[in-house]
Amino acid sequence: MQITSAEFISSFADVQKCPPPDKPEFAFIGRSNVGKSSLINMLTGQKKLAKTSVTPGKTQTINHFLINKSWFLVDLPGYGYASVSKSTREGFGKMIERYVRERKNLSCLFILIDPRVAPQKNDLSFITWAGSQGVPLAIIFTKADKLKRNELQKNLKQFENALLAEWEELPPLFVTSSEKRTGRDEVLDFIGQAIETERNS
Ligand code: GTP
Ligand code: MG
Repeated sequence: MQITSAEFISSFADVQKCPPPDKPEFAFIGRSNVGKSSLINMLTGQKKLAKTSVTPGKTQTINHFLINKSWFLVDLPGYGYASVSKSTREGFGKMIERYVRERKNLSCLFILIDPRVAPQKNDLSFITWAGSQGVPLAIIFTKADKLKRNELQKNLKQFENALLAEWEELPPLFVTSSEKRTGRDEVLDFIGQAIETERNS
């Protein structure tokens, strides 16, 4: 899959206000600061398309980007950020829950995981919850450049084992670095295949 155009469409806190659900959509979710917005910039090759920050809690709304005039990439706010108010922290955030439950054209929800830390409770429970909603899932381990290869392999194995404690089968897994552009072709080819499969079904 080649990206020939990428444009910002809208930024809303309410899933009902998002663009009409008439195109395949691929969204990125995960804890605050895991690298969702950076990954969108890396995939599209546009450094400033999605706003990023060293401080967690940067993305606060549902952001739609139209790719190749034919499908959407979506940047979502993070979950698990301790400084936001208690009501915002409730569950994974009402906005995210409604988006996952109600967005009809969601082809795949990519859940981003920081492989530098041991499997986190909120990540595992988010995966379990999203899986129970019947949404197609894939997992992306981000910031691969921050770990040595053997450390990365060890931590990925640990995370896979944590998933296998609850799941019979693992979802598709990707390893990326937005800094080094690692995993770009793999993620884009996966999206391309998903679009192709949907078109033929
Ligand atoms: P929120 O919008 O706050 O939920 O965060 P986010 O998940 O969108 O993270 P964002 O893309 O804003 O990145 C957070 C920080 O991590 C920024 O300082 C990025 O430069 C850094 N970062 C993101 N991806 C990578 C990566 O692959 N490698 C390295 N070294 N740093 C990264
Ligand atoms: Mg963000």
